[in-house]
Amino acid sequence: MDIVLSGIRSTGKLHLGNYYGALRNFIRMQEENRCYFFIADIHSLTTHPDPKMLHENVKNVLVDYLAAGIDPEKSVIYVQSDLPETVELYLYLNMHAYLGELSKTSSFKEKARKQPENVNAGLLTYPTLMAADILIHRADKVPVGKDQEQHLEMTRRFARRFNHFYGVEYFKEPVAYNFGEELVKIPGLDGSGKMGKSEGNAIYLGESPKEIEKKVKRALTDSGPTEPNSVKPDYIENLFILLRVVSTPEVVQHYEMQWNTCAIRYGDLKKQLAEDIIKVTTPIRERIQEIEKDDAYLRKVTLEGAERARESARKTIEGVREIVGFKPF
Ligand code: TYM
Repeated sequence: MDIVLSGIRSTGKLHLGNYYGALRNFIRMQEENRCYFFIADIHSLTTHPDPKMLHENVKNVLVDYLAAGIDPEKSVIYVQSDLPETVELYLYLNMHAYLGELSKTSSFKEKARKQPENVNAGLLTYPTLMAADILIHRADKVPVGKDQEQHLEMTRRFARRFNHFYGVEYFKEPVAYNFGEELVKIPGLDGSGKMGKSEGNAIYLGESPKEIEKKVKRALTDSGPTEPNSVKPDYIENLFILLRVVSTPEVVQHYEMQWNTCAIRYGDLKKQLAEDIIKVTTPIRERIQEIEKDDAYLRKVTLEGAERARESARKTIEGVREIVGFKPF
């Protein structure tokens, strides 16, 4: 049985990008693997250090996890800050992570550009904390979206380097996983490259049908192609990418044909797209509304999850301490 691990930062509610890039695969994988799914609240401190919002944000992700179908009977669900072993491993991994490689990471460069007033060491060492999250359970597979690919490469490199430095075969090299397919990247509705929590271009899993319709309607279009079979501009291709994930192949084919024959009806396409998104999100939204009221259940899930996660983490960290050379007197 493979060990699967993944996490999502507690920086807001989850959107279609999180769902198709990660969450949907979490649910598909929990039947046949030993799964750990956590809420990355420590990672969120690199960009969102807000004590008033932190707990609420953790709760949002937890509720979305459960509402989307992660089953605490099958998977271990926990909060990152409940596992001090991860932070300890992060410290050891940092001794073998170099400034050059960390400062060249795409996510670091992007965040440093976005928040030039707060380029903190936590941002720089984000990939080592992420490697610690993964290696602490010695995971085999990590279901993530395309934007995490580089972080997974770094995790494999840190694992290899640790093994090599200490002359051990302790850590496995985990892979970014999407059932053998290319990792997913869901675009935003604003014609931008990626749907993101902080980009203002997202459709959230808990959003009402009215809001979803409004957002889809507002998406950028144009007066349509003038030449048959022409290449779609990015903002139109993005609508088709969304259609391909939420609609049936027949629907996609229908609109592809309209596009190729210069007969595209964007109004119809948007109506269909909104309808199909609502079909996916409605059952999740309804469960969110139930689960978010049940604080006793949320407490039980996180307490039990932390206990089970710590069992596995403790074993790993004991081994690491021995390898590093710590010994009792
Ligand atoms: P985060 O919180 O940014 O995103 C969580 C997951 O959602 C995926 N995702 C997307 N996939 C496709 N299209 C999109 N537009 C889109 N937006 C987000 C992300 O790829 C990710 O899988 N560093 C991680 C959190 C993390 C983690 C880990 C993940 C911390 N430690 C250990 C796996 C293993 C992050 O920032 O994800």
